[in-house]
Amino acid sequence: MLKILNIVGARPNFMKIAPIVREMRRREAEFRPLIVHTGQHYDEAMSDSFFRDLGIPAPDFYLEVGSHSHAVQTARIMMAFEPVVLAEKPDWVVVVGDVNSTIACALVCAKLGVKVAHVEAGLRSRDRTMPEEINRILTDAISDLLLTSSQDADENLRQEGIAPDKIKFVGNVMIDSLFYNLEQSKSSKARENLDLRDKDYAVLTLHRPSNVDEEKTFTGLLDALVSIAEKLPVIFPVHPRTRANIEKFGFAERVANSNIRLIEPLGYLDFMNLYSSAKMVLTDSGGLQEETTALGIPCLTLRENTERPITIELGTNQLVGTNAEKIKQAAFAILENSSKKDTKIPPLWDGHAAERICDALVS
Ligand code: UD1
Repeated sequence: MLKILNIVGARPNFMKIAPIVREMRRREAEFRPLIVHTGQHYDEAMSDSFFRDLGIPAPDFYLEVGSHSHAVQTARIMMAFEPVVLAEKPDWVVVVGDVNSTIACALVCAKLGVKVAHVEAGLRSRDRTMPEEINRILTDAISDLLLTSSQDADENLRQEGIAPDKIKFVGNVMIDSLFYNLEQSKSSKARENLDLRDKDYAVLTLHRPSNVDEEKTFTGLLDALVSIAEKLPVIFPVHPRTRANIEKFGFAERVANSNIRLIEPLGYLDFMNLYSSAKMVLTDSGGLQEETTALGIPCLTLRENTERPITIELGTNQLVGTNAEKIKQAAFAILENSSKKDTKIPPLWDGHAAERICDALVS
């Protein structure tokens, strides 16, 4: 029986750990899964509602770390997590994605000689100004098992000199959660409550520091979004970081006078209910690039690079950067249906990645 500590910290971790823990609990003769929540995200809307929607059991350990600078947050997670590892002596620690909780917990284990499996290993944007890129490179360098969601990630890891026998292509566990919950999301009233018709609106998410912390970049994005919103409503569930900057830069009135509709961050099922019927999604999120590809919804990624090139190669994603003209052109092309291409769901994005992750841990 393998004792596993499964780490979650921030919003994009919850939908990745949920199917893994569910599969471990199903295989109770093989696994004893425990959940550690670092508390990197802590609000009802950013954390608790995801536990409920995704049916994740209450954390066995809650580290209550909260928001701080990167150094302080990472250090506090390490300090709070080390005693848990020492007391619990797990066979494996499973970390997912690329947030500060991922690297902090992986680093604690590497120093204590406890084995770490990294789910969603090998993604690279090649942009080291992104905090997540640093977290990805470092976590992969010290993990014992690198579980990848696409084959370009395997190639990235091999190029960095990681031994091929540590790398295992298991597919995309985020898509396990998507397929598992899609039917249930149809009974959410999120779209209906906003009085929106199927395919008659766009969904926007924006939270990268490079987009929302710089006034000039944010202004350019807003110019494009206000124009797009003249043609169809843009529904914008706002991340706390972004909301604070809308106030700070004095954008609130401009947004209020446009057809961009700011709403509170949504839970997992409500948000799925909303984006799954959208005409298009505009985003700087990583996960949403994948979810829209799996559902065949056109996605414009408001970044200069992506660590998920498979969503462009096979899927519905287009990298449009932060230039207002380019964003508008791409959005208008989708509205005129002139940007249609044949898209495919990438290999092993089939709803069964968690099973393969558990098999890899056992073997
Ligand atoms: C973090 C992740 C990012 C991920 C994002 C998803 C890192 C380096 N970044 O960025 O990869 O895409 O989460 O949301 O790990 N806040 C709240 N309530 C919360 C959490 C945060 O109000 O529950 C506010 C705080 O004011 C905080 C700010 O949001 O300062 C930003 O939160 P933080 O966790 O520092 O980074 P994110 O931008 O959320």
